[in-house]
Amino acid sequence: MEKSNIIKLNPSDLERQKTCQSEVLRHNLEFEKTTGLEKKAFIRTFGCQQNEADSEKIAGMCREMGYRISDTPEGADLIVVNTCAIREHAEKKALSVIGQYKHEKEKNRDMIIAVCGCMVSQKHRVDQIKKSYPYIDLVFGTASIHKFPELLWNKMTRNKRLFELDSETYEMAEGIPIERNHPFKAWVSIMYGCNNFCSYCIVPYVRGRERSREPEDILSEVRDLIGKGYREITFLGQNVNSYGRTDHLSCDFADLLECAAKLEGDFRLRFMTSHPKDASDKLIDVMARNPKICNQFHLPMQSGSDAILKAMNRHYDMERYMHIVNYIREKIPDCAISSDIIVGFPGETEADFESTLQALKKIRFDMLYAFIYSPRVGTPAASMENQVSDEVKGERFRRLLAVQNEISLELNEAMVGTEPLVLCEGPSPENKAVLSGRTEGNKIVFFEGSPALAGKVFPVHIERADPYALYGKAVL
Ligand code: SAH
Ligand code: SF4
Ligand code: F3S
Repeated sequence: MEKSNIIKLNPSDLERQKTCQSEVLRHNLEFEKTTGLEKKAFIRTFGCQQNEADSEKIAGMCREMGYRISDTPEGADLIVVNTCAIREHAEKKALSVIGQYKHEKEKNRDMIIAVCGCMVSQKHRVDQIKKSYPYIDLVFGTASIHKFPELLWNKMTRNKRLFELDSETYEMAEGIPIERNHPFKAWVSIMYGCNNFCSYCIVPYVRGRERSREPEDILSEVRDLIGKGYREITFLGQNVNSYGRTDHLSCDFADLLECAAKLEGDFRLRFMTSHPKDASDKLIDVMARNPKICNQFHLPMQSGSDAILKAMNRHYDMERYMHIVNYIREKIPDCAISSDIIVGFPGETEADFESTLQALKKIRFDMLYAFIYSPRVGTPAASMENQVSDEVKGERFRRLLAVQNEISLELNEAMVGTEPLVLCEGPSPENKAVLSGRTEGNKIVFFEGSPALAGKVFPVHIERADPYALYGKAVL
């Protein structure tokens, strides 16, 4: 068995962070007393839910250090950019946003700008920031988030730029304060890192080896959230199905999920992401018998071609994938199934791509997240010789979306006239005049009503559908 090199953060290290937190707080309170101004922090997050969960921890630490969390960078004393590296586009966007903050700093020389997350867990990006972004004060990797108070205090007192690269030993910190972005929906990271090394993916390099939190730590966080009135809790991990494996825990993911689903209270549970190589029948049985677990399964397929799946190092073939889909549909007939697809992986032939289209037509996913393959520095696929041209990638991407849009539209239209239960999330960010919410299957629904309905669960009569959303009237 692989020996885990994960260690829980030493209590004295956590104490040191608390001490630094108090030092920054004292400093900020003094500033407030002399100037009458309160210190503000602005956090900009790119990437997946894991990064959002990390940013909630950064916000929690900021709050403890006396910062008010601001929703604009203007006038902020501290800006933290939490970056993503999954595709080139994500990195380009982060770098361009970081570039814009230069002007903010020109207005306030005392402003501190920190960059953290997956992009700066790569050496070449840290070197680039050192050289070309001199106004960035502090850079730290994904495994150093819990050290933020110490790094910030060092920056404040030593007045020199700080670059904290992650070490090979991954410590896991419990007890970091969390400032949640949402009043009734919460992320709970159950594990960190990834051991799978899919040949296209940067995550194992920037998030380190897989490590799982103790079940008791997770369940006590869930109990606390339920007690505070949270209605939806999503368990997060890059491959939740291997929960506990490298740490040799006796509780697997299905056990953990069932324990959480048996807790008292009015809430629903989701999880992501489920890797097909480890998705067990046991997990599906647990979902089928526990009504608090949403009937929703995100099961990234990546490609419908066995040859490409092999080159991707995914460790399953389409036969195995179809077994999981069929078992879900047999045990949970109304379960929504969604997936991720990469088009244009090196060596993908027209026939491979056709197999993906055929698989989409056969399975009929409720939702699909499609991505154009983006070479990532240091991953095996980036140096494969048979790269697909941008032109072919673009053309396949459009064809894939056309096939899926038709399927999504048909599946969504089949819901017209039904009344699914929806957790109302309040006014839609894009159009404040309407409310939005999500069904158990995670489909977005728009409807009219009072903002006071936010956080409530009720049926919505579906009147209309497009490939991306449902529209209806609340049944109250
Ligand atoms: N751990 C999850 C995926 C996290 S990344 C899993 O294994 O399912 C989310 C999605 O981004 C992946 O499922 C994949 O479809 C896509 N992705 C990852 N690396 C990519 C790359 N280099 N280019 C394009 N898409 C990529
Ligand atoms: Fe990336 Fe694969 Fe790990 Fe998912 S399982 S994060 S795709 S390496
Ligand atoms: Fe997530 Fe992007 Fe990192 S997808 S794990 S934030 S590379």
